[in-house]
Amino acid sequence: MNSDLDFIFKRRSVRKYTDKTIPAEILRDLLEAGMAAPSAAATDPWHFIVITERETLSGVAAFLPHGKMLLTAPAAIVACGDMTKAFDGYESYMLQDVSAAVENILLAAQALGLGACWLGASILGSPE
Ligand SMILES: Cc1cc2nc3c(=O)[nH]c(=O)nc-3n(C[C@H](O)[C@H](O)[C@H](O)COP(=O)(O)O)c2cc1C
Repeated sequence: MNSDLDFIFKRRSVRKYTDKTIPAEILRDLLEAGMAAPSAAATDPWHFIVITERETLSGVAAFLPHGKMLLTAPAAIVACGDMTKAFDGYESYMLQDVSAAVENILLAAQALGLGACWLGASILGSPE
């Protein structure tokens, strides 16, 4: 395997974390990596919410049976798809675009020495 691609081959889902705070500039790097992902017709149908408050992380964990790692995670990035921007209004494009952004974030986390895990939670609905 090409060692230049180690950040891809060595990525693993990490579900146990230290209590170190993630600096704001690193969180920004992760968001920029997400937004650098390709999207159908360059519609970029995504929004990201960064959660760092312990109470909020625990509150989200309470609703996710497979998301208990949030109880110790110092931060979470919620990737939201925007159907008003999805190419031709197709949900499938929105899902592909957001998935590309999430994978970029995971690979950026690996490259920056952070542990991370994709946490699947599908909540479909319109914003109020
Ligand atoms: C769409 C998607 C949803 C996932 N949801 C969860 C989840 O809810 N909880 C979890 O612990 N891991 C979740 N994972 C991580 C997978 O379990 C993990 O990627 C898989 O076991 C392969 O392991 P690896 O990431 O270490 O290569 C999810 C991964 C994907 C792509």
